[in-house]
Amino acid sequence: MDEYKIKSIEEGLTKIEFPEFDKISSEAPVFYNPHMELNRDLSILAIQVFQKQEEREINICDLFGGSGIRGVRYKNEIDGVGNVCINDISEVANHYERHNIALNNLEDIEVHQHDASMFLRMKRGEFDVIDIDPFGTPSPFLDSAGYCARRKSLLCVTATDTSALCGTYKEPCIRKYNAKPYKSEYCHETGIRILAGFVALTLAKYAKCIEVKMSHSTEHYMRLYIYVKKGSKRTDESLENMGYISHCKNCLHRQTSLGLASSIEDTCPVCGEKLIHAGPLWLGDIQDSEFIKKMIEEVEYKKINTEKQALKLLNSCLTEADAPATFYDVHKICKSLKISAPKLDLIFDEIEKEGFKAVKTHYSPIGIKTDASIKDIQNVLLKLCEDE
Ligand SMILES: C[S@@+](CC[C@H](N)C(=O)[O-])C[C@H]1O[C@@H](n2cnc3c(N)ncnc32)[C@H](O)[C@@H]1O
Ligand SMILES: [Zn+2]
Repeated sequence: MDEYKIKSIEEGLTKIEFPEFDKISSEAPVFYNPHMELNRDLSILAIQVFQKQEEREINICDLFGGSGIRGVRYKNEIDGVGNVCINDISEVANHYERHNIALNNLEDIEVHQHDASMFLRMKRGEFDVIDIDPFGTPSPFLDSAGYCARRKSLLCVTATDTSALCGTYKEPCIRKYNAKPYKSEYCHETGIRILAGFVALTLAKYAKCIEVKMSHSTEHYMRLYIYVKKGSKRTDESLENMGYISHCKNCLHRQTSLGLASSIEDTCPVCGEKLIHAGPLWLGDIQDSEFIKKMIEEVEYKKINTEKQALKLLNSCLTEADAPATFYDVHKICKSLKISAPKLDLIFDEIEKEGFKAVKTHYSPIGIKTDASIKDIQNVLLKLCEDE
């Protein structure tokens, strides 16, 4: 390992070293992506909230260790952590994982070199937290995670194959997530719901059900924090959250239909055009306001470099926690009405004056989550335009 020039970085309270590389790529001797610091900082907050709720020592699995930065940070920066296992299939990664454990003077962290699925199969019931942060899709590893997960545990899942989940490419999404995507203005939310739905269906095989506590789509990735619980009856009930989103390309109306095998309307009730369906996907909550409030409180007790960005995102997710699924893109509606877009704040005020809810969303700066229909929103926009 002496052939490499070493780079040193600091995240939170932790120092990490790994071989220097020119380009962030899976080809680097050991993978490290500085753009994922926010993801790691939020993970520290979410796992700490989970640990406090459980009121016991928790064991953590960092399934795709890379430099070991997650496992090492989790042990170093989260209170109440017992044993941490860092796994990676690469020997070079294992070397730097051990190096970084020693660099931070940590005990009770093991390093393993296995294929991720094999590792989870060997360690059934040993972890309270499983962090899945692979290259691309987490899909192939979720079955083993379902098998391994404790009856009350936290699953942290990253997906970087957003083009599949968002529907830029339909076939890979069908192959990997067994769901049809649709590339609408709210496709990042649809993507998160497809991933959550796939986790729910995969874990259901092991009579385990999910509660999504927090989720976000940021830059090139999506991340979900999911509580896993055990029980066939509650799993059956939780699968009632599965369903479809149907979208009208002509008038921008959209609607949801609960149920995996119930019939779905094919014609737009507003304009009569054919509806396009996405799913099956998770129509249950994808943000939990109580959990997010606790993550926000936790920021005060942690040293995280991305504090400002983390708080902005968490507050945005908190605002949209109880809003309906999907959102409207103001510019897209204005374009279809052939009017210029009024000021955003005015639109929110006016929709609320009409008796509807209207909140911003972290997915888009020009997105509105509302229970108003497309017709109601169009009327508001036309009225504001006339008033100008
Ligand atoms: C995206 S990187 C992990 C980044 C790390 N979690 C972080 O936050 O910096 C993915 C890692 O998974 C490892 N890997 C790839 N395929 C694997 C497999 N089938 N089982 C276990 N590890 C694997 C790679 O060697 C790589 O280090
Ligand atoms: Zn329509």
